[in-house]
Amino acid sequence: MPPDFADLFRRRTDDTADLIAIDGTDRFILDEAPHVHGDALRQPGGVAVVDDRHGVLTLGAMTVHGASDVRVVQDSLVGVRALEANAGTFGRRGFHHPATLKQAFTDVRLVLLRLTKSNDRLDEITRAIARYAAPDVVLLCGGMTKHMSLSQNDVLRRYFGDVTASRGRGKSRLLVATDPLSAQAARADTTNPWPRSVHVDDLGMTLAAHGGVFGGASLDQGTRALLDVLDRAVPTARTAVDLGCGNGVIAATIARRRPSIRVVATDVSASAVASARATAAANGVADRIEVVRSDAGDELAAGSAQLILCNPPFHADTTVSTDAAEAMFRNAATILQRGGELWCVWNSHLRYRSALERSVGPTRQIVRTPKFTVTASQVP
Ligand SMILES: C[S@@+](CC[C@H](N)C(=O)[O-])C[C@H]1O[C@@H](n2cnc3c(N)ncnc32)[C@H](O)[C@@H]1O
Repeated sequence: MPPDFADLFRRRTDDTADLIAIDGTDRFILDEAPHVHGDALRQPGGVAVVDDRHGVLTLGAMTVHGASDVRVVQDSLVGVRALEANAGTFGRRGFHHPATLKQAFTDVRLVLLRLTKSNDRLDEITRAIARYAAPDVVLLCGGMTKHMSLSQNDVLRRYFGDVTASRGRGKSRLLVATDPLSAQAARADTTNPWPRSVHVDDLGMTLAAHGGVFGGASLDQGTRALLDVLDRAVPTARTAVDLGCGNGVIAATIARRRPSIRVVATDVSASAVASARATAAANGVADRIEVVRSDAGDELAAGSAQLILCNPPFHADTTVSTDAAEAMFRNAATILQRGGELWCVWNSHLRYRSALERSVGPTRQIVRTPKFTVTASQVP
């Protein structure tokens, strides 16, 4: 790999203090790509990239290997923005984000995929690749060995006839899948389609979730604690925000319980956004729920809501992190009108109270169980 490429990526691309944007896994994938399918790299539109974290795979495929018209699927808006910013640094375009997985993978011949921790996401993506890609497609997946498991090979084997694991290089390992089983993938789409929908009896609602969405189509126990006290949360609110909406359960619940409220549901994840839309539709409240993709609510208008409901994240894929939660608290203070409230549920051991006081305002405890605390923080 030309040294200037890696050097350009070594600088930080976001606020995470210790993050180095190019890592051994991205390098390993890029080094291996021409060996597994050099032809595809030379064919315009022959390559797709999945869950590129900072744009390294996409821009590397273009800059180092000459790929063009690269199709990119990124679940996180943070990754999309990093790719855009880094593309500007390189002065390179030549990639786009197709709207659907079908458009992303139709006739594609090489897919570079950065593994996440979710086997459901891997299932949804690999199923679509096997179903729509060219028969000679090679799926080259890479991850950190310590986060990989044999269950990922099993997922790949559902839709590919041949799956091999590379030897480790540094802390990384690759999986290479060939021989797509397109009929099997099409059948799986019919019998067990994404998003998965589940009727949750005690809520009297159907939840829908694409692969990789927090909790899938089930009700998280922390979310349940928040929903148990929901009726006490700013009963006069005209607009409520579901911040970090996941499958959209909070947005759909408040929309059902309060027939005239308007709800904005937002998440950084494209799969979550699609899932929340599907949940809203499944429960007959899509006309009052707007779903927006944003990073911690940063696309939402200032002073636009009287109530925000939030079960914040405390993981960024495999890493424990409170950064996104704290960004949500800061943005909540802007999105809320004066006197508006952020109702938040959190694992009691996280001790978010001081962050809430600092970012939003006076915070009172609504309920505390051994595991969860629900608080209300009011904008002064
Ligand atoms: C604990 S889950 C809660 C999901 C859902 N509200 C529920 O109760 O089941 C946190 C959600 O925050 C989302 N998230 C993580 N980082 C985010 C960010 N920077 N901006 C917006 N949403 C984010 C995750 O994708 C996830 O859906």
